[in-house]
Amino acid sequence: MRTKVNGIEVAYTDEGEGKGLPLVFVHGFPLNRGTWSKQVGAFKATNRVIAPDLRGLGESEATGGPVSMSRFAEDLYALLQHLDTGPVILAGHSMGGYVALAFAKAFPQALRGLVLVGTKAGPDTPEAAAARRATAEKVRAKGVSVVVDAMAPKMLSSGNTDAAMAQSVRDFMTGSNPEGVVGALLGMAERPDAGAWLDKIQVPTLVIAGADDTIIPPSEAEALTKAIPNTQLKLIFDAGHLVAFEQFGAFNEALRDWLAWAAFDPRRGMCDA
Ligand code: MLT
Repeated sequence: MRTKVNGIEVAYTDEGEGKGLPLVFVHGFPLNRGTWSKQVGAFKATNRVIAPDLRGLGESEATGGPVSMSRFAEDLYALLQHLDTGPVILAGHSMGGYVALAFAKAFPQALRGLVLVGTKAGPDTPEAAAARRATAEKVRAKGVSVVVDAMAPKMLSSGNTDAAMAQSVRDFMTGSNPEGVVGALLGMAERPDAGAWLDKIQVPTLVIAGADDTIIPPSEAEALTKAIPNTQLKLIFDAGHLVAFEQFGAFNEALRDWLAWAAFDPRRGMCDA
């Protein structure tokens, strides 16, 4: 599906219904909403499931210049307003987690639960930011294959020999607009430290990490779990960075268990999940 919000054409998936709260899934970099296909299929019988392509990635329109995590969050809020979802449970993977944290800060009233997957709160080091800017220059010169070739081999666990899955991972990346990829790189390079306000997060939170993630190691998930009140941590084995796709069975079970746990305890402020 497509619609125009916040001045850009956004592509998104919107499937399912049920008495549960809407589940919104935000993909990482330089990926697209296809990375959540296993969750859309699994949860659409019980929940409305929404997964957008972020500005400039997947099939969504690109704009010039850096795209801040706040800008991505504003796009998301505008989409949810347009879709009249009411408050949601928001899941973000990696860069999608940076967006989810920006959303939690800016739009707490729109949130009932948070799921942070293979992500972290801290900003780029000066070296990491400089490397991103250098990569952005290379993408401008040579195209998106620069980041696809660098990142695709790191998305799954090193022991994973599933060639079809590896090809799917490349496919999630290759369609993105070079301008969008550059915008996200520059936006990540300048993103603020979200660590200072993690203790203000009011909603139940689930933190999930792949045990073999080498892009954002599980120690970051442990740090998030310590800093955010009312949080559960789930480490998933035989999974790398793209844990929700690689080990979707274990991931979906963890998400379903947490939804049930949060829903059944009224003190946790969540119901009908
Ligand atoms: C992602 O998967 O979104 C990226 O690896 C995040 C990052 O580069 O910081």
